[in-house]
Amino acid sequence: MDLDLAVDTGTQNALLAQVHRHTGIFMADRKWTLLQGRLRRRLQELALKSYREYLALLEDSKDEVGYFIDLVTTNETSFFRTQRIWDYLWQDFLPTWQAAHPAATLQVWSAAASTGEEAYTAAMLFEEFRLQQPGFRYRILGTDIARRVLEAGRAGKYHGRNIDGLRKIRPALLDKYFRQEGDHFSVIPALRAGVTFREHHLYKRLADPVRFDLVLLRNVLIYFDEPGQENVLEKVRQSMVPGGVLLVGESESLGRIRSGFVYRQPLIYCNDKTPA
Ligand SMILES: C[S@@+](CC[C@H](N)C(=O)[O-])C[C@H]1O[C@@H](n2cnc3c(N)ncnc32)[C@H](O)[C@@H]1O
Repeated sequence: MDLDLAVDTGTQNALLAQVHRHTGIFMADRKWTLLQGRLRRRLQELALKSYREYLALLEDSKDEVGYFIDLVTTNETSFFRTQRIWDYLWQDFLPTWQAAHPAATLQVWSAAASTGEEAYTAAMLFEEFRLQQPGFRYRILGTDIARRVLEAGRAGKYHGRNIDGLRKIRPALLDKYFRQEGDHFSVIPALRAGVTFREHHLYKRLADPVRFDLVLLRNVLIYFDEPGQENVLEKVRQSMVPGGVLLVGESESLGRIRSGFVYRQPLIYCNDKTPA
């Protein structure tokens, strides 16, 4: 069955609006080609003839909304992405935090976790830190809006480019924290035990009594418009301890955004206010 590629502007705009409605991601009109490309295969799978039919399905089917979110989100990530963040955690944050909280558990939130590489990178670093400080304890929560990537994070099985990248930069950690099983590498149970994954939309406040000492909110703010960024930052801040540390992505800055975070160093902010 041939797909009708000619789309009227009303349908285009309505689909772009659906992206915002379900994910908070702002896609300008010029992103239509990108969105169209991402949706095309789904329409073919469903044997739908037009984008208008797909729009109608999206309005009717909650299940389809899940697939839609999987398709419209950009989930690129890698182990040890942005080395200076991990250097900061290792050299500065961890020793300082542990000295100030010798009996506590470090609560960490990977707030747009994608397929889990960020959360497992943190876990590897924390395990290595624990060799120096045996009393150190941590818990990592990884959340994302996209179900498909969360399943990958829970499975903890990796192959291809991201494993090649880890092998190149930290071969000893690959050997220590992964087991090769056929064509993929599985995170060892001891590392996985410290990490849990859960579905969460960043526009909502996390339904969790835990207050986080460290939040990685990296490479996700760029997809939101300014009101969206302010909303997300405030919701995240409400889940943090006063003085908690927020890490953002390389191309992100809170400079122009109104928030309760105070600049510390490039990519590193601190929660200056008492959570509501
Ligand atoms: C580019 S990845 C970043 C992954 C990781 N933080 C990193 O820096 O490597 C962005 C992730 O944000 C997620 N995302 C987008 N909008 C979201 C929302 N409203 N709530 C939660 N996660 C969202 C996407 O599904 C995607 O997995």
